[in-house]
Amino acid sequence: MPTAHHPLGIDIGGSGIKGAPVNLDKGQLAKDRLRRDTPKLSSPAAVVDIVAQIAAHFAGDTGDSPIGVTLPAVVTNGVVRTAANIDPAWIGTDARKLLSDRLGRPVTVVNDADAAGLGELHFGAARGANGLVLMSTLGTGIGSALFYDGTLVPNSELGHLEIDGHEAEHRAASIVREDKNLSWQEWADRLQRYYSHVEDLLWPDLIVVGGGVSKKADKFLPLLDVRAPIVAAQLQNSAGIIGAAWLACNGPSPAPPAKA
Ligand code: BGC
Repeated sequence: MPTAHHPLGIDIGGSGIKGAPVNLDKGQLAKDRLRRDTPKLSSPAAVVDIVAQIAAHFAGDTGDSPIGVTLPAVVTNGVVRTAANIDPAWIGTDARKLLSDRLGRPVTVVNDADAAGLGELHFGAARGANGLVLMSTLGTGIGSALFYDGTLVPNSELGHLEIDGHEAEHRAASIVREDKNLSWQEWADRLQRYYSHVEDLLWPDLIVVGGGVSKKADKFLPLLDVRAPIVAAQLQNSAGIIGAAWLACNGPSPAPPAKA
């Protein structure tokens, strides 16, 4: 029996580039994901080479299916607008064109936290949630995704809120806990300041916390006191891959690739 083809999701982060074919009927990875380190010089050329390797690795599973790719950046109409945790050469790059030309397939490019939020909204902790949902990803930076009644308000960038004279992600991202060897309580105190501030501005009905550290949510979520229910992402570190693949199949049609 021929194997069904699945869309490919690729999640480009500050430390790793991870991809897998996604079974959208189940909201699960169809194969184990492949991970490569993000190159030290994370220029468009270097990153696109790795994305192409990951796409080639899964070619048999994905066929001509669309590809969804995340970036830790503001992305509007496929064009990268910011670069807090990747090489600044990305700014102004038409990532959708660059990637679809290189991969020869339609590619949708989306902010990493927005993709993770879409994954959780359709298949995880925010499934069926109405009202205002905040997805917050804790990793190299702090990502955010906002949904109102299931509609994404893209590129919200709440990790860059200035709180007590500091950018929030410079104080409370997961990597800060590791680099500064903070105890869970010390880190939770920083998260508390961040989430209380965000809550006072936006009044979300649900907060979903993702990123690799969400595997250890029991160590820090119970230490937080916020008004909204705050829960760990269910898809954990695959949320971005799954959300990107979902968007590639369900979002607005991406531009066709220049070559077949
Ligand atoms: C970036 C966001 C991204 C977040 C998580 C921030 O520094 O500005 O676009 O979603 O990091 O990777």
